[in-house]
Amino acid sequence: MTFFKSATRELPEIRAVPRHIAIIMDGNGRWAKKRFLPRVAGHVKGVETVREAVRACIEQGVEYLTLFAFSSENWRRPAEEVSLLMQLFVSALEQEVKKLQKNGVRLRVIGELSRFDAQLQTMIREAEAATAENTRLNLTIAANYGGRWDILQAVNRLAADQPEKAGNWTEAELEPYLATHFAPEPDLFIRTGGEERISNFLLWQLAYTEFYFTETLWPEFDPEALKAAISSYQRRERRFGRTSEQLVEKS
Ligand code: IPE
Ligand code: IPE
Ligand code: MG
Repeated sequence: MTFFKSATRELPEIRAVPRHIAIIMDGNGRWAKKRFLPRVAGHVKGVETVREAVRACIEQGVEYLTLFAFSSENWRRPAEEVSLLMQLFVSALEQEVKKLQKNGVRLRVIGELSRFDAQLQTMIREAEAATAENTRLNLTIAANYGGRWDILQAVNRLAADQPEKAGNWTEAELEPYLATHFAPEPDLFIRTGGEERISNFLLWQLAYTEFYFTETLWPEFDPEALKAAISSYQRRERRFGRTSEQLVEKS
Protein backbone atom coordinates (compact mmCIF):
# COMPACT_ATOMS: atom_id res chain seq x y z
CA MET A 1 0.00 0.00 0.00
CA THR A 2 1.21 3.48 -0.83
CA PHE A 3 0.99 6.14 1.83
CA PHE A 4 0.67 9.78 0.95
CA LYS A 5 1.31 12.76 3.17
CA SER A 6 -1.75 13.97 5.02
CA ALA A 7 -2.38 17.75 5.10
CA THR A 8 -3.36 17.62 8.76
CA ARG A 9 -0.55 15.48 10.15
CA GLU A 10 2.35 16.37 7.86
CA LEU A 11 3.27 19.07 5.40
CA PRO A 12 2.57 17.78 1.90
CA GLU A 13 5.09 18.49 -0.80
CA ILE A 14 3.97 21.40 -2.96
CA ARG A 15 4.68 21.38 -6.67
CA ALA A 16 4.11 24.11 -9.25
CA VAL A 17 1.70 21.88 -11.13
CA PRO A 18 -0.98 20.37 -8.93
CA ARG A 19 -0.36 16.68 -8.57
CA HIS A 20 -4.04 15.90 -8.05
CA ILE A 21 -6.96 17.86 -9.49
CA ALA A 22 -10.55 17.06 -8.49
CA ILE A 23 -13.39 18.53 -10.55
CA ILE A 24 -17.14 18.90 -10.15
CA MET A 25 -18.18 18.96 -13.79
CA ASP A 26 -21.29 21.11 -13.55
CA GLY A 27 -23.35 23.06 -16.05
CA ASN A 28 -24.13 20.51 -18.75
CA GLY A 29 -27.89 21.06 -18.47
CA ARG A 30 -27.60 24.84 -18.67
CA TRP A 31 -25.24 24.57 -21.64
CA ALA A 32 -27.89 22.57 -23.49
CA LYS A 33 -30.72 24.86 -22.41
CA LYS A 34 -28.91 27.91 -23.81
CA ARG A 35 -28.93 26.13 -27.17
CA PHE A 36 -32.53 24.94 -26.93
CA LEU A 37 -31.27 21.35 -26.79
CA PRO A 38 -32.36 18.57 -24.43
CA ARG A 39 -30.28 18.31 -21.23
CA VAL A 40 -28.73 15.07 -22.39
CA ALA A 41 -27.06 16.90 -25.30
CA GLY A 42 -25.11 18.78 -22.63
CA HIS A 43 -23.99 15.52 -21.05
CA VAL A 44 -22.90 14.18 -24.44
CA LYS A 45 -20.85 17.31 -25.04
CA GLY A 46 -19.54 16.98 -21.48
CA VAL A 47 -17.98 13.62 -22.31
CA GLU A 48 -15.96 15.33 -25.07
CA THR A 49 -14.74 17.85 -22.53
CA VAL A 50 -13.61 14.99 -20.29
CA ARG A 51 -11.52 13.64 -23.17
CA GLU A 52 -9.89 17.07 -23.66
CA ALA A 53 -9.31 17.51 -19.94
CA VAL A 54 -7.57 14.13 -19.72
CA ARG A 55 -5.29 15.09 -22.59
CA ALA A 56 -4.56 18.50 -21.09
CA CYS A 57 -3.74 16.99 -17.69
CA ILE A 58 -1.27 14.60 -19.29
CA GLU A 59 0.37 17.52 -21.11
CA GLN A 60 0.59 19.62 -17.95
CA GLY A 61 2.03 16.77 -15.89
CA VAL A 62 -0.93 16.31 -13.56
CA GLU A 63 -0.77 12.79 -12.08
CA TYR A 64 -4.28 12.32 -10.69
CA LEU A 65 -7.53 13.62 -12.10
CA THR A 66 -10.73 12.87 -10.19
CA LEU A 67 -14.04 13.75 -11.84
CA PHE A 68 -17.47 13.86 -10.22
CA ALA A 69 -19.77 12.29 -12.80
CA PHE A 70 -22.82 11.26 -10.78
CA SER A 71 -23.52 12.00 -7.15
CA SER A 72 -25.43 9.86 -4.68
CA GLU A 73 -28.10 12.60 -4.84
CA ASN A 74 -28.38 12.61 -8.64
CA TRP A 75 -30.82 9.65 -8.45
CA ARG A 76 -33.36 12.33 -7.50
CA ARG A 77 -33.38 13.57 -11.10
CA PRO A 78 -36.14 12.59 -13.52
CA ALA A 79 -35.91 8.85 -14.32
CA GLU A 80 -35.37 9.58 -17.98
CA GLU A 81 -32.30 11.74 -17.35
CA VAL A 82 -30.85 9.16 -14.94
CA SER A 83 -31.34 6.42 -17.49
CA LEU A 84 -29.73 8.48 -20.27
CA LEU A 85 -26.78 9.25 -18.02
CA MET A 86 -26.30 5.53 -17.35
CA GLN A 87 -26.42 4.78 -21.08
CA LEU A 88 -23.88 7.48 -21.68
CA PHE A 89 -21.63 5.99 -19.02
CA VAL A 90 -21.83 2.58 -20.70
CA SER A 91 -21.10 3.94 -24.17
CA ALA A 92 -18.23 6.10 -22.89
CA LEU A 93 -16.67 3.02 -21.29
CA GLU A 94 -17.08 1.08 -24.54
CA GLN A 95 -15.51 3.79 -26.62
CA GLU A 96 -12.83 5.22 -24.39
CA VAL A 97 -11.01 2.31 -22.80
CA LYS A 98 -8.84 1.63 -25.85
CA LYS A 99 -7.85 5.29 -26.02
CA LEU A 100 -7.06 5.38 -22.32
CA GLN A 101 -4.90 2.32 -22.84
CA LYS A 102 -3.03 3.96 -25.71
CA ASN A 103 -2.44 7.09 -23.67
CA GLY A 104 -1.22 5.33 -20.55
CA VAL A 105 -4.22 6.30 -18.44
CA ARG A 106 -5.29 4.15 -15.50
CA LEU A 107 -9.02 4.28 -14.91
CA ARG A 108 -10.71 3.78 -11.57
CA VAL A 109 -14.34 4.27 -10.64
CA ILE A 110 -15.21 5.15 -7.05
CA GLY A 111 -18.64 5.22 -5.41
CA GLU A 112 -21.30 2.80 -4.31
CA LEU A 113 -21.22 0.72 -7.46
CA SER A 114 -23.64 -1.97 -6.23
CA ARG A 115 -26.49 0.37 -7.13
CA PHE A 116 -25.63 0.12 -10.85
CA ASP A 117 -26.91 -2.67 -13.01
CA ALA A 118 -24.80 -5.81 -13.35
CA GLN A 119 -23.69 -5.10 -16.92
CA LEU A 120 -22.33 -1.68 -15.99
CA GLN A 121 -20.57 -3.07 -12.92
CA THR A 122 -18.86 -5.71 -15.04
CA MET A 123 -17.80 -3.14 -17.62
CA ILE A 124 -16.33 -0.97 -14.89
CA ARG A 125 -14.36 -3.85 -13.42
CA GLU A 126 -13.08 -4.85 -16.86
CA ALA A 127 -12.05 -1.30 -17.75
CA GLU A 128 -10.20 -0.96 -14.46
CA ALA A 129 -8.42 -4.27 -14.99
CA ALA A 130 -7.53 -3.44 -18.60
CA THR A 131 -5.83 -0.18 -17.60
CA ALA A 132 -4.37 -1.30 -14.27
CA GLU A 133 -0.76 -1.24 -15.46
CA ASN A 134 -0.90 2.33 -16.78
CA THR A 135 0.98 5.03 -14.87
CA ARG A 136 0.89 8.26 -16.90
CA LEU A 137 -2.34 9.62 -15.46
CA ASN A 138 -4.65 8.23 -12.80
CA LEU A 139 -8.16 9.06 -13.94
CA THR A 140 -10.85 8.46 -11.36
CA ILE A 141 -14.54 8.77 -12.06
CA ALA A 142 -16.76 9.28 -9.02
CA ALA A 143 -20.10 7.63 -9.79
CA ASN A 144 -22.90 7.21 -7.27
CA TYR A 145 -20.33 8.80 -5.01
CA GLY A 146 -21.06 10.82 -1.90
CA GLY A 147 -18.50 12.16 0.54
CA ARG A 148 -20.61 11.11 3.52
CA TRP A 149 -21.03 7.63 2.08
CA ASP A 150 -17.24 7.44 1.64
CA ILE A 151 -16.44 8.37 5.23
CA LEU A 152 -19.11 6.05 6.57
CA GLN A 153 -18.08 3.04 4.49
CA ALA A 154 -14.49 3.61 5.60
CA VAL A 155 -15.50 3.73 9.27
CA ASN A 156 -17.66 0.62 8.91
CA ARG A 157 -14.89 -1.38 7.27
CA LEU A 158 -12.35 -0.19 9.83
CA ALA A 159 -14.77 -1.20 12.60
CA ALA A 160 -15.13 -4.66 11.10
CA ASP A 161 -11.36 -5.10 10.73
CA GLN A 162 -10.20 -3.63 14.02
CA PRO A 163 -13.07 -3.79 16.53
CA GLU A 164 -10.66 -4.02 19.45
CA LYS A 165 -9.38 -0.47 18.79
CA ALA A 166 -12.84 1.17 18.64
CA GLY A 167 -12.73 4.52 20.39
CA ASN A 168 -9.04 5.00 19.57
CA TRP A 169 -8.85 4.91 15.78
CA THR A 170 -6.62 7.52 14.21
CA GLU A 171 -6.86 9.45 10.95
CA ALA A 172 -3.96 7.43 9.61
CA GLU A 173 -5.82 4.21 10.32
CA LEU A 174 -9.01 5.42 8.63
CA GLU A 175 -7.46 6.83 5.45
CA PRO A 176 -6.54 3.51 3.80
CA TYR A 177 -10.26 2.65 3.83
CA LEU A 178 -11.37 5.77 1.93
CA ALA A 179 -12.35 5.25 -1.70
CA THR A 180 -9.41 7.47 -2.77
CA HIS A 181 -6.77 5.61 -0.72
CA PHE A 182 -4.62 5.20 -3.86
CA ALA A 183 -4.19 8.95 -4.41
CA PRO A 184 -2.68 11.91 -2.58
CA GLU A 185 -5.18 14.48 -1.30
CA PRO A 186 -6.29 16.84 -4.08
CA ASP A 187 -4.18 19.99 -4.45
CA LEU A 188 -6.75 21.79 -6.56
CA PHE A 189 -10.54 21.52 -6.59
CA ILE A 190 -12.40 23.00 -9.55
CA ARG A 191 -16.15 23.49 -9.89
CA THR A 192 -17.49 24.70 -13.21
CA GLY A 193 -20.98 26.06 -13.83
CA GLY A 194 -20.98 28.90 -11.30
CA GLU A 195 -22.30 27.17 -8.17
CA GLU A 196 -20.04 27.56 -5.16
CA ARG A 197 -20.68 24.44 -3.15
CA ILE A 198 -19.19 21.02 -2.54
CA SER A 199 -22.38 18.97 -3.20
CA ASN A 200 -21.20 16.02 -1.09
CA PHE A 201 -18.01 15.45 -3.10
CA LEU A 202 -14.72 14.52 -1.36
CA LEU A 203 -15.48 15.82 2.13
CA TRP A 204 -12.54 14.31 4.01
CA GLN A 205 -10.01 14.62 1.22
CA LEU A 206 -10.56 18.34 0.49
CA ALA A 207 -9.57 19.45 4.00
CA TYR A 208 -6.64 21.59 2.72
CA THR A 209 -7.33 21.67 -1.01
CA GLU A 210 -7.30 25.00 -2.90
CA PHE A 211 -10.76 25.80 -4.32
CA TYR A 212 -11.40 27.33 -7.73
CA PHE A 213 -14.89 28.23 -8.93
CA THR A 214 -15.65 29.34 -12.46
CA GLU A 215 -18.80 30.43 -14.27
CA THR A 216 -17.67 28.48 -17.34
CA LEU A 217 -20.06 25.63 -18.03
CA TRP A 218 -18.45 22.19 -18.15
CA PRO A 219 -18.97 21.64 -21.91
CA GLU A 220 -16.99 24.86 -22.49
CA PHE A 221 -14.20 24.13 -20.03
CA ASP A 222 -11.36 23.80 -22.55
CA PRO A 223 -7.61 23.28 -21.96
CA GLU A 224 -7.16 27.09 -21.73
CA ALA A 225 -9.70 27.19 -18.92
CA LEU A 226 -7.81 24.42 -17.16
CA LYS A 227 -4.60 26.39 -17.55
CA ALA A 228 -6.30 29.43 -16.00
CA ALA A 229 -7.30 27.31 -13.01
CA ILE A 230 -3.75 26.03 -12.64
CA SER A 231 -2.34 29.59 -12.83
CA SER A 232 -4.74 30.65 -10.11
CA TYR A 233 -3.49 27.73 -8.02
CA GLN A 234 0.09 28.81 -8.60
CA ARG A 235 -0.66 32.21 -7.06
CA ARG A 236 -1.98 30.72 -3.80
CA GLU A 237 -0.03 30.50 -0.59
CA ARG A 238 -0.67 27.10 0.95
CA ARG A 239 -0.02 27.56 4.62
CA PHE A 240 -1.50 24.44 6.22
CA GLY A 241 -2.07 26.32 9.46
CA ARG A 242 1.25 28.18 9.56
CA THR A 243 1.81 31.91 9.18
CA SER A 244 3.00 33.60 6.03
CA GLU A 245 6.21 34.62 7.84
CA GLN A 246 7.03 31.03 8.59
CA LEU A 247 6.83 30.21 4.90
CA VAL A 248 9.20 33.05 4.01
CA GLU A 249 11.72 31.89 6.63
CA LYS A 250 11.72 28.44 5.10
CA SER A 251 12.37 29.46 1.50
C1 IPE B 1 -23.48 18.17 -14.32
O1 IPE B 1 -24.30 18.98 -15.07
C2 IPE B 1 -23.58 16.72 -14.71
C3 IPE B 1 -24.27 15.87 -13.73
C4 IPE B 1 -24.67 16.23 -12.55
C5 IPE B 1 -24.51 14.51 -14.15
P1 IPE B 1 -25.78 19.28 -14.65
O2 IPE B 1 -26.68 18.27 -15.29
O3 IPE B 1 -25.92 19.37 -13.19
O4 IPE B 1 -26.01 20.69 -15.32
P2 IPE B 1 -26.83 21.92 -14.74
O5 IPE B 1 -26.29 22.20 -13.38
O6 IPE B 1 -28.27 21.50 -14.70
O7 IPE B 1 -26.58 23.01 -15.72
C1 IPE C 1 -22.90 17.79 -8.57
O1 IPE C 1 -23.66 18.46 -9.52
C2 IPE C 1 -22.63 16.42 -9.02
C3 IPE C 1 -21.96 16.25 -10.30
C4 IPE C 1 -21.43 17.15 -11.06
C5 IPE C 1 -21.90 14.90 -10.72
P1 IPE C 1 -25.19 18.82 -9.28
O2 IPE C 1 -25.56 19.73 -10.38
O3 IPE C 1 -25.98 17.58 -9.12
O4 IPE C 1 -25.13 19.58 -7.87
P2 IPE C 1 -26.24 20.40 -7.08
O5 IPE C 1 -27.35 19.47 -6.82
O6 IPE C 1 -26.66 21.54 -7.95
O7 IPE C 1 -25.54 20.86 -5.85
MG1 MG D 1 -25.80 20.94 -11.87
